[in-house]
Amino acid sequence: MAERKQLFLNLFEMATASHITHGLWPLPGNNRERFADIDYWTELAQILEHGGFDGIFLADVIGAYDVFRGGPETALREGLQSPNIDPLLVIPAMAAVTERLGFGVTFSTTYEPPFAFARRMSTLDHLTKGRVGWNVVTSYLPNAAHNFGLDGEVPHDLRYQYADEYLDVLYKLWEGSWDDDAVVADRANKIFTDPSKVRYINHVGERHRVSGPHIVHPSRQRTPVLFQATGSPAGIEFAGRHAEVVFTGGRTTEEFRRNADGMRDAAVRHGREREDVKFIAMAGIIVGRTEEEAADKWKLYRENSSLDGILAHSSLPVDLTAFPRDITVAEALRRADVSPSKVPFLPLERTVGQALDFVGGSRDDRFLVVGTAKTVADEIEKWLDEDGLDGINLRQYHSFDTARDFAELVVPELRKRGRLPDESERSDTLRERLFGAGNSRLPDRHIGARYRGGANLDNPVEPLRFDTANAASF
Ligand SMILES: Cc1cc2nc3c(=O)[nH]c(=O)nc-3n(C[C@H](O)[C@H](O)[C@H](O)COP(=O)(O)O)c2cc1C
Repeated sequence: MAERKQLFLNLFEMATASHITHGLWPLPGNNRERFADIDYWTELAQILEHGGFDGIFLADVIGAYDVFRGGPETALREGLQSPNIDPLLVIPAMAAVTERLGFGVTFSTTYEPPFAFARRMSTLDHLTKGRVGWNVVTSYLPNAAHNFGLDGEVPHDLRYQYADEYLDVLYKLWEGSWDDDAVVADRANKIFTDPSKVRYINHVGERHRVSGPHIVHPSRQRTPVLFQATGSPAGIEFAGRHAEVVFTGGRTTEEFRRNADGMRDAAVRHGREREDVKFIAMAGIIVGRTEEEAADKWKLYRENSSLDGILAHSSLPVDLTAFPRDITVAEALRRADVSPSKVPFLPLERTVGQALDFVGGSRDDRFLVVGTAKTVADEIEKWLDEDGLDGINLRQYHSFDTARDFAELVVPELRKRGRLPDESERSDTLRERLFGAGNSRLPDRHIGARYRGGANLDNPVEPLRFDTANAASF
């Protein structure tokens, strides 16, 4: 029998009260208000590690959601991604109480220079013994730009151009600046590092000038596993060059497959193999001991979901809740003097009521399942075999019930079906878990590998270029 494809299983988290399931933090027993308590993270990490998860994935933003209703009030009231503590800093606490759990962490390429970030990620890769991944984002909040000295957001495609140079600097530092055997720690000769094995990178680009050498010696993975979420043409091209794991979606199997194929084509354009890119999706899974118990939980979550939270999160530039439900969206936009081009995702000819119901209920997407462990496992098997998905970021409705329920009920069922490894089989670096034993480092054909051993440091890579004049600015 052909080997069964296994699920790459992450919990989706954010160091905040309300990440993506708005309105649920006050539910009985939900302990999201503890997100700034170090014990929250160590307890959660242990639940995940012992419960069979591969990793925890931490989202991040660096600004307030202040577009909806023209200010941050709604977001603040909702606990919507503010307050939000630094996700990089909770990782060592979790690493200290686990041995195998992986950590995916979000950081933006747009605002902070690369040298300090290279250092922080190398530090985390050392402290976690090679269990760290980076979710590369370019940041979408206007307030983030205002926090870092800019008048407004950098246009969308230009952000990807900036990100491309950012990663080039990082690869030079992570892959090219130090040889693996540079640190000798030779007591007899009193030599800590062999200086002939460490080099400057002398990067001079359009946006960054970084001389190096890297200030941290090589870690297990050197470059952390590179994650990215995208659907735009510029983002897909960027993913084709850089990303190892992409979040993608689709409302149907065909759409998902088409999206994934587009990204694989992009990878091939950048000299990589189709299987060098894995795909994960955000999944809503509500499991119960009976179908009824699961349905009740789902009902509870839906009934408590906050429309205000969802609207503030989507940075809707018009407050549709202030209009009668029976007028069309087009009419509401006209009255609010907001151009339809600012809200391309809204159905203009529908009524305001229909649009609000659509936005409020849009979680009922392809990767959602409510039921017993058997129902859930059947569905996950379809995602793996029919859609071609490699893994999921499990959406949390309740902390820690979502993770515990999945660990107690679904993990044993998936293990029984050969869809998750037994605890004893687990590999130790994050990249090995994704790409197999012995693959702790970037593959040779990845663009970051061109700097290995100091090669190509004076041979610049062709930068990614987009038609930034035509790029949308959101
Ligand atoms: C599952 C998922 C997680 C994301 N997490 C973050 C995040 O933590 N921080 C952030 O700024 N953007 C996050 N994003 C947004 C993406 O980085 C990106 O802006 C978005 O997918 C649109 O990309 P595109 O404009 O290239 O299509 C996330 C997107 C998805 C689908």
